[in-house]
Amino acid sequence: MSIPVERTLSPKPKPADQNKLGFGNYYTDHMFLMNYDEGEGWHNPRIVPYAPIALDPAAMCLHYGQEVFEGLKAYRTQDGKTLLFRPDRNMARLNLSNERLCIPPIDEEFAIEAIKELVKVDADWIPTADGTSLYIRPYIFAVDAHVGVHPGKHLIFAVILSPVGAYYPEGLNPVKIYVENTYVRAVKGGMGFTKTGGNYASSLKAQDEAEKLGYTQVLWLDGVERKYVEEVGTMNVFFVIDGKVVTPALQGSILGGVTRASCIDILKSWGVPIEERPISIDEVAAAYDADKLSEVFGSGTAAVISPVGELRWGDKVLSINGGKIGAVSQRLYDALTGLQWGKTPDTFGWTVRC
Ligand code: COI
Repeated sequence: MSIPVERTLSPKPKPADQNKLGFGNYYTDHMFLMNYDEGEGWHNPRIVPYAPIALDPAAMCLHYGQEVFEGLKAYRTQDGKTLLFRPDRNMARLNLSNERLCIPPIDEEFAIEAIKELVKVDADWIPTADGTSLYIRPYIFAVDAHVGVHPGKHLIFAVILSPVGAYYPEGLNPVKIYVENTYVRAVKGGMGFTKTGGNYASSLKAQDEAEKLGYTQVLWLDGVERKYVEEVGTMNVFFVIDGKVVTPALQGSILGGVTRASCIDILKSWGVPIEERPISIDEVAAAYDADKLSEVFGSGTAAVISPVGELRWGDKVLSINGGKIGAVSQRLYDALTGLQWGKTPDTFGWTVRC
């Protein structure tokens, strides 16, 4: 399928200061759209000027949340190339989410081509300041005008682009995280492993309460025993205990992060012991008490590597590595961002030219 491009006649001004982009505040001049209609399949791919999308007030996505999304980034290298990082992984996960939410699968290779085309059309929006990139948000939603609860038969696949800086205002400075023991995010058999808006809707209340207490995000515990660590608001989580790196195993309720998988492979390539297994919050606290918890950090496309400087679990406050970034977190951050911005040779073959 070829992708026609309708260019905007009124390009928007670019953000004045690339060092103050924040996250999710600006959108580029164009977007990609494609429709699904039962009987026709996915059709009519197109790149058009960025504009509001008209929806019937009864559109199913507004009522029952049949929606999935992805997040990846385009990076501008020092010699002016544009790189994507493991887009195949994002598109495979999009189809995993699609399957769970009864959304017809997309052609992963075609979706990557569409993303590349869109990024090329808006290439002059890719920021170049240190630590900045172009965040790519593919998403699919059901638009049938129907308030009965059924899988949609008419959907839209859209991709929008946003020039971004660090996700957290803290940047690479450690964040404070609240261990959530009232609310739960997901249970096995639910949708926790997918990237769907509902998972983030269910996180808002806990996030809001944690923020009021001065915490940046929450650390979720499992939804049954409230015992095992799952993930942090927008990131997977890693602990460095007694020289070993431990991250919760993917058991159905945790998002399989692309950055998480990349960290595991990088750590293995360095010969650093890395365990994917259930880890309880009691084990984390016991390691802290025994002075064996040297680092905690999160990983994610938006967050990259985000060191955790404090964990609060009930009345217990765990102050990690003196509130400073640790050696493993810093080394992983440097390795990942080195690959993503094309500063170091890509021995893993993870980056893709746009
Ligand atoms: C990402 O890291 O791409 C995410 O999807 C996090 C997002 C919810 C901000």
